[in-house]
Amino acid sequence: MCGIVGYVGPRPASPLLIEGLRKLEYRGYDSAGLAVHDGKTIDIVRAVGKLHNLEVALAAHPLAGSLGIGHTRWATHGRPVEHNAHPHAAGDVAVVHNGIIENHVALRHALEADGVRFSSDTDTEIVAHLIDRAMRAGIVDLFAAVRRALEQVQGAYAIAVVSRTAPDRIVVAKSSSPLVIGIGEGETLCGSDIPALLAHTRDVIILEDGEMAELRAGSVRIETVAGVPVVRAPKRIDWSPMMAEKGGYKHFMLKEIFEQPRALEDTLRGRVDLRAGDVTSSEIGLSDEVATSIRRVYFLACGTSYHATLAGRYWVEQLARVPAVVEVASEVRYREPVFGPDDLVVAVSQSGETIDTLAAVKAAREGGAKVLAIANVLDSAIPRAADAALYTHAGPEIGVASTKCFTTQLGALLLFAVWLGRRRGTLDEGKARAVLQALVEAPGQMRAVLERAPEVLAVARVWHSASDMLFLGRGLGYPIALEGALKLKEISYIHAEGYAAGEMKHGPIALIDKKMPVVVIVPKDAHYEKTSGNVQEVCARDGQVVAIATDGDDEITPLAQQVLRIPPVAEWTLPLITVLPTQLLAYYIADLKGTDVDQPRNLAKTVTVE
Ligand code: AGP
Repeated sequence: MCGIVGYVGPRPASPLLIEGLRKLEYRGYDSAGLAVHDGKTIDIVRAVGKLHNLEVALAAHPLAGSLGIGHTRWATHGRPVEHNAHPHAAGDVAVVHNGIIENHVALRHALEADGVRFSSDTDTEIVAHLIDRAMRAGIVDLFAAVRRALEQVQGAYAIAVVSRTAPDRIVVAKSSSPLVIGIGEGETLCGSDIPALLAHTRDVIILEDGEMAELRAGSVRIETVAGVPVVRAPKRIDWSPMMAEKGGYKHFMLKEIFEQPRALEDTLRGRVDLRAGDVTSSEIGLSDEVATSIRRVYFLACGTSYHATLAGRYWVEQLARVPAVVEVASEVRYREPVFGPDDLVVAVSQSGETIDTLAAVKAAREGGAKVLAIANVLDSAIPRAADAALYTHAGPEIGVASTKCFTTQLGALLLFAVWLGRRRGTLDEGKARAVLQALVEAPGQMRAVLERAPEVLAVARVWHSASDMLFLGRGLGYPIALEGALKLKEISYIHAEGYAAGEMKHGPIALIDKKMPVVVIVPKDAHYEKTSGNVQEVCARDGQVVAIATDGDDEITPLAQQVLRIPPVAEWTLPLITVLPTQLLAYYIADLKGTDVDQPRNLAKTVTVE
């Protein structure tokens, strides 16, 4: 999600910056730009689309100079058009930014009231103006002016700043979004990720949250934003270029699995008001009148996104007490579904381009329904066809098998259910606060589960030669049983079925014998007694149980061949946590089998054909 590069040294900056941005292409982007200081002034060139377009623009308008910053933008605030591409300038200053400025609305209003005119729709331009204001107010030192600006900013950011008045330095800062400094021979670089630097140096300093640094050709000065000096020696990186692109992970899918806590935090940022026990209304984009007048919520999606909507139905029914329907979009479009003004259709799609979901959305709107899109790609076709959009902020997902998009969809759906319940009067402030608190705590719990990945690898070693696998779950465990089975078949090519645990007796029980691994999602929740009864039934038929169970549940231990543990978690957020061992299990089994994990056979990331 956005890439930053910077260079200060003796060499021409432009080609180095382009080369660095190319190494960050895997992060996904829709526009790009450079700002280069030629010793006297700063010049900016930007272009929509691939880096090639920026190179064409640079051929027509070359940027001379040996200090500069560059950026690839993955749009979050404002459409992917040239005036929204970075760098953004204000006065003498140019800024590139990765992340989201949470209080951008309030800051923008304050700056506009002060006479500032904006030339983009981005939250980033606010940072440029804040720095410019600080300099105009008499803070001549760029480092100090950036600090003054950051004191006013809330949210996630990595920024790189240059100023016409400081031809020998770049100032960088970080909070949540990554930023790495590269120490070269008489030159200093920075980037969002190590691959952007590796062609020039293997000695890097990883900036920590709340830190800022001044980069000059032969020196780096680091301080906290609060002004405390930081001494940190560079580390030597010995990754191969391929490893570097994947952040040291073997596959993008594994990297994306481990990015999930961060992706969920980004998706929740600025949307949860714990004090009011509510969701920030403007983030949903629908009027309160829509919330109170509708009589049905109709979820539409495909594949993994469809599994997320199954949890969405559960939450909407429980919290907003509205009848909710979940449909596979590819089926809806070939029936004659009855949509009307009483329906709120929620279309969920990571790509925002899935043809079946798009067609079903169009049918819903033709029928008079209101449509809310939940998507990960700004301005993609489904949000554009909808009345409103609630974006997940998972960042680009490269692995074809969806992981971080799924968990961020779950986060967005729970936000939506709370928003609906509060407006319909079915959810009081206290309960809403408890649900939102659980959601805010989920990233930390996810991190704790991901630390146990080696335990999942050990289970994968036992079962990677299985020919079939069954996944069972109940309540909010049911969508995870379906998703766990889908993930396994997508990337390992092992035949897998997901079932509602209560359905086992109605058919799948016939499959169980001593060669059949059965993954049972059996956390300590309201359905625990019933689901552990299913575990007993599998054991009685010599089935091999892999239980996903809560820490401290000793009853399950003697029944299961292996137990994958999760911490105690509020029931609302269980699927965000229980899905993690299933993703890891699928990943490790596929890796042990040697399949093409990131690009499994026959599958496409974005399905734009029927
Ligand atoms: C997920 O692992 C799959 N690749 C697939 O099921 C996917 O979820 C489905 O094609 C829907 O895609 P979308 O979310 O982009 O609409």
